[in-house]
Amino acid sequence: MCGITGYTGKSDAVARLLSGLRALEYRGYDSAGVAVMDAQGAVHVVKTKGRLRALEERLEKCPVHGRCGIGHTRWATHGAPSDVNAHPHGTDRLYVVHNGIIENDRELRAELSARGYNFLSETDTEAAACTIDSAYAETGDPVAALCAAAKRLRGSYALGVIFLDHPNEIYAVREGNPLIVAEGGDGCMIASDIPAVLRFARDCYVMEDGEIACVREDGAEFFDCQGKPISKRAAAIEWNMEAAERGGFAHFMLKEIHEEPLVARQTLGRYVKDGLPDLRGAFDNGCERLTIVACGTAMHAGLVGKWLIERIARVPVEVCIASEFRYNEPVLSPNHCVIAISQSGETADTLAAVRLAKSLGVRTVGVVNVPGSSVAREVDQALITCAGPEISVASTKAYAVQLLMMYLTAVQLGLGRGTLSMERARQIVSGLMALPAAMEEVIREDAQIRRMAACLDETENCFFIGRGLDYPGAMEGSLKLKEITYIHSEAYAAGELKHGAISLITRGMPVVALSTQAALKEKMLSNMREVASRGARVLLLATPETKELASDADETFVLPATDELLTPATAAVAMQLLAYYAAVRRGCDVDKPRNLAKSVTVE
Ligand code: AGP
Repeated sequence: MCGITGYTGKSDAVARLLSGLRALEYRGYDSAGVAVMDAQGAVHVVKTKGRLRALEERLEKCPVHGRCGIGHTRWATHGAPSDVNAHPHGTDRLYVVHNGIIENDRELRAELSARGYNFLSETDTEAAACTIDSAYAETGDPVAALCAAAKRLRGSYALGVIFLDHPNEIYAVREGNPLIVAEGGDGCMIASDIPAVLRFARDCYVMEDGEIACVREDGAEFFDCQGKPISKRAAAIEWNMEAAERGGFAHFMLKEIHEEPLVARQTLGRYVKDGLPDLRGAFDNGCERLTIVACGTAMHAGLVGKWLIERIARVPVEVCIASEFRYNEPVLSPNHCVIAISQSGETADTLAAVRLAKSLGVRTVGVVNVPGSSVAREVDQALITCAGPEISVASTKAYAVQLLMMYLTAVQLGLGRGTLSMERARQIVSGLMALPAAMEEVIREDAQIRRMAACLDETENCFFIGRGLDYPGAMEGSLKLKEITYIHSEAYAAGELKHGAISLITRGMPVVALSTQAALKEKMLSNMREVASRGARVLLLATPETKELASDADETFVLPATDELLTPATAAVAMQLLAYYAAVRRGCDVDKPRNLAKSVTVE
């Protein structure tokens, strides 16, 4: 998954491109580059392995000037990070930056090599560039060439292209990966995502699959995949620059954890009316079975949702890892409903799962954070959460609002099916409305969590254990820790540990035990004692109802008093802070962990 951007206008293109790439670096950051057309129409390419800073240093040493250019920050899919594999890639007629994967790149390379093309890099992007070049040689027209090339390319791509004989124009084409066009005061930009244009424009055009744009200083023209002109309406950009900046926090992750109470309030404000859920009719047509498709943290929100919806609404819920769902020939029927949960709305596996569900005639609902994203636009109904831009690779505030949507769905379905009394429904929603304050209480106690994080300094292994509603919570806590500290952490149903995995417990090994469900606390106490007797160091997350277990723990954090149904939301904040401080103590790159990217738009 990569970030692409482009600028054409009155100002210096390099400054605009770097500003855009800085805002996109969360999408991938193993190499970066720009191609800039100077006043004489010559294109200068500067690209390098490494973070964006390395590119900036190169440009400081050998500046390039021009008013039109394209830029790229990479997360390698084809070919290791290197100068030669960095984008842009091109020919003597054009240059390309690309986000996505061209699945038939080998076939294209063979065909083009046979026709005399020489490839310098290992990338699929270069195959795309030469395919466009070949089409351009035949058509002599950029739009016609892109239409012809799009028929040859298989996979997903968002491309920015400059043609040497079309000075100060940028062409863009989108298939399966996000691409927006923004018109600012001094020119126009293309970008993979909104943060890249936040300083530049107040509204943008969201391109659809198959669409092509020709972007000039004074505006953009759009075409369909046949090359026919189409008209598009710009959408206001609701995010402000400050929201996408770090706001004085050491890391975006910490900022975004601190934003959870606010975005929780905003999301509840959007989907709670008169004390009850208002999900805009998303589930009004009733559904006898639910399938939740998602990846990573979003999938964990789905697992909490499963527990809640089955317990409250008595609707069977299957949670499928999206990358499995799409290849498992799922058994779906018209009375089914598929919920896709995705922060970015661009996760390739989740998007593919949505498309499969739709092809099977099943209603699809999206819980998505990015307006105008692919999932948001392709589901039958999108419930857009209000977490705002989530920049840190580790998802925190988006998870918080995904949980809220699961609660509201459970209550909505419970009321609709008569399995939940109005009184209990109002009680749960009232508890949700008080959750932001409870989250703030956890955040205020972060010094305690910071001390608990010290227990993770020496270890390379860790367990998270929980029962019932705490088990999916443990899974999310474990993922947070492993993805930013690189500690090998595993989540286990507490009662299952003794069936094998307990063999891994060694002296001093930390085990994070979640005990927020009063009815299960005795069982959890036994499990804590099992691991402690084998030398484990028990870090307990408890509530006022279960804090007596502290006498059997090495460290304890007591969550604020809430309806115990709601503890996944408060426990998540505590575990996010635990992971955050453990990562900081290790000197890890918290916002951009190794090997990861914010939105995985490739398979
Ligand atoms: C979250 O901390 C991870 N970075 C990752 O698991 C993420 O949740 C997953 O890739 C799904 O992303 P999405 O919500 O944008 O679809």
